[in-house]
Amino acid sequence: MKIVNSCPEMRDYSRSLQKNGSTVGFVPTMGALHEGHLSLLKIARRHCGRVVMSVFVNPAQFGPSEDFEKYPRQLEKDCELAENAGCDCVFIPSPRDIYPENYNTYVNVENITGALCGASRPGHFRGVATVVLKLFNIVIPDTAVFGSKDAQQVIVIKRMVEDLNLPVRIIAAPTLREEDGLAMSSRNAYLSAGERADAPLIYKGLTEARELYEGGERAGQSIKNCVVSIFNRSRLLKLEYVEVVDTTQLKPLDVINRPVLIAAACRTVETGTRLIDNIVLGGDLD
Ligand code: PAF
Repeated sequence: MKIVNSCPEMRDYSRSLQKNGSTVGFVPTMGALHEGHLSLLKIARRHCGRVVMSVFVNPAQFGPSEDFEKYPRQLEKDCELAENAGCDCVFIPSPRDIYPENYNTYVNVENITGALCGASRPGHFRGVATVVLKLFNIVIPDTAVFGSKDAQQVIVIKRMVEDLNLPVRIIAAPTLREEDGLAMSSRNAYLSAGERADAPLIYKGLTEARELYEGGERAGQSIKNCVVSIFNRSRLLKLEYVEVVDTTQLKPLDVINRPVLIAAACRTVETGTRLIDNIVLGGDLD
């Protein structure tokens, strides 16, 4: 497996693959790989001749009081895991490569970045959209794969790709879960034992909401109340939001009459870890 650190080398590598008739699949990550990331690599592998993964902990998407400094970093292990999952090339740029001195250009996807996670993480999606566009310009992938756990991120990136006519196909991959339902996330490693024991309540709430929906319930508020009532069983999970919104504009749905995203976020009380999860009903993110 090839390891590339420089942007020009990365672009040359992709161009040479494409010149030789291969398609390039891309999985952008911030490292600290878990099974969820490996499933993205495997999906990219199925769709493309070659697979590139990036590892870059993007400072522009972290707020000043967020976990940028303590975000888990394990490059050697990540490269080993990526290679075993069929990755052909890992791109590891330095912060200076991505944000050189006098860097001034940011991508702002309007209207859909202020709600849900954007409400408590101002600037987060501006940082995500900016780095993803830059990575697309460096890696020049045919297809890029993102995890559906970050549903708003997928929706924002798909919007950006469409709005800016980017020649990249976006695949939203299913969320991988631990046996008890907790969505896999690099941040799960921060959880205390008590928080870890309560964390599956997030998906339990979403699952019960799905059951209500499948039983015919279409009132957004009833679906929300159902998720909130499950969260309230834990004193260690502090709910940040539960939203019932459409899957393109992220507008709240009082009556569910189209594909719906039910998304929840909470912060844990002991370690201050932020956890998110979601389900999509009546359609998908694709
Ligand atoms: O989902 C992530 O890990 C990040 O937001 C991404 C897409 C790699 C951009 O930094």
